[in-house]
Amino acid sequence: MKKVGVAILGLGVVGGGTYNILVDNKEYFKKTQDVDFTVECVLEKNVQRAIDLGLEESQVAKSIEEVVSNPNVDIVVEVIGGVEPAKTFVLKALKSGKTVVTSNKELFAKHWPELETEAKNNKAGLFFEASCVGGVPIIRTLIDGMQANNIQSIKGIINGTTNYILTKMANEGSSYEEALKEAQRLGYAEFNPTADVEGFDATYKLSILSSLAFNKKICIENVYREGITGVTKEDIAYGKELGYTLKLLGIGKNTKHGIEVRVHPTFVANSNPLASVNDSFNAVHLVGDSVGEIMLYGRGAGALPTGSAIVSDVIYAAKHEDFFYTSFDNSPNGNKQTKFVNDFTSKYFIRLSVADEPGVLSTFSGVFSKCNISISEVKQTACENGKATVIIITHESSESNVNKALAKFKSLKVINKVESVIRVED
Ligand code: HSE
Repeated sequence: MKKVGVAILGLGVVGGGTYNILVDNKEYFKKTQDVDFTVECVLEKNVQRAIDLGLEESQVAKSIEEVVSNPNVDIVVEVIGGVEPAKTFVLKALKSGKTVVTSNKELFAKHWPELETEAKNNKAGLFFEASCVGGVPIIRTLIDGMQANNIQSIKGIINGTTNYILTKMANEGSSYEEALKEAQRLGYAEFNPTADVEGFDATYKLSILSSLAFNKKICIENVYREGITGVTKEDIAYGKELGYTLKLLGIGKNTKHGIEVRVHPTFVANSNPLASVNDSFNAVHLVGDSVGEIMLYGRGAGALPTGSAIVSDVIYAAKHEDFFYTSFDNSPNGNKQTKFVNDFTSKYFIRLSVADEPGVLSTFSGVFSKCNISISEVKQTACENGKATVIIITHESSESNVNKALAKFKSLKVINKVESVIRVED
């Protein structure tokens, strides 16, 4: 039976989950995988945390050098998060020829080329299933399960914190601030929630996933990003009346005009399976030219779900000599030949506060017509103090045409305010 030594860098929530899976399932892995895993050592400042998990004090390394010079360590699991010191540690491990398994999406989205070069130079493996969508095996699906396909699109709810907040706002009519507070209380959102609520976390994941899906380097700078901090309970309620659920979607499309990659709040038609992905759950919908549609659903975070993704990489690494490296030009700034679509098309939900008087409808529909925007649905929802709220759903329109119409609205006296503009996916 093959004996494999593992080191874990960082014993936070995910590090603890990974340790527990490796220890609790040791006998099971011997039987099913023919591999005997041992956690040789950990790198963790909080020694007591390591002891509480069941490690001996002697297994707590004092430095990364101690970890990478340990001949019994074959695989280094990095679950520290953030760029530094994780990057330095991972590079040192790869330089020493150790295979690295990481859950670090920020590190990967920002420094994948450098890490991969180091891995290749040292014939080491570099695994990152846990970096995207936690326990959902999306990376293995893209690398090993979908090779027969040209992938046309990838759309997903790839951030659990924002999905929890938006679900709470929809189900309980909470404001954004109230829902965020509850998410923080439950430990979904961090004390500083910026990475999640401003869409950075989803952008990191989408840049990794769409690179694999379209076999082209998609840098984070190529991803259009909008977070959920401007979302209101009023919009969610108006969308509900029209049969839509608001989600923070990551969308990647491989179109004949180029690659389109974006993260933003999106109204999803209730008939779309992504609309029923609630709370902190994640889901990814793929369309391949051979297989058609595929959807994966599950927990995108948490000790055991993310630990599951890490340990599956550890098992894969222990059993394979042929490591995965990208076949596309994975240079830091991407390939200059790759075309991106920046003026993408979408349906739009537009909420206007207008004067409640004759001719208003024809005024704004005239603007839409001049800007080549076709209206699919109009709803006047409330009239108060001579003001009315009007919701317009457009047909597919280009972003630039919508911006032209919104600019014209500013000069119209009958339009008091453009309250919100939200993209729609059927
Ligand atoms: N903060 C992430 C989320 C967790 O809310 O989905 C794992 O990336």
